[in-house]
Amino acid sequence: MIVISLHYNKRLYQFHTYEDEYDSLMCLISDHFPVRCFGVCYGGGCCGTCGVFIMDSNGSPKFGLSCEMRIDATLNDKVIILDR
Ligand code: FES
Repeated sequence: MIVISLHYNKRLYQFHTYEDEYDSLMCLISDHFPVRCFGVCYGGGCCGTCGVFIMDSNGSPKFGLSCEMRIDATLNDKVIILDR
């Protein structure tokens, strides 16, 4: 079980998923939220519109493209910030 917390639109959502249930973190987000102008290139890695911040263990945000993030143990218990 992989637990991901997603902060979006001033709310915190929690997802219980498993490895590779989704092709990427972008797919999980797109399946649950109608985010405008998000994932415009559908995971092609060229638009940059799927950017999120991941809070690391010392509370620092790290930016990354969610279309390049596989759902696996590295995302377990992480807080993802989708700032729109
Ligand atoms: S969807 Fe375009 S870079 Fe991720």
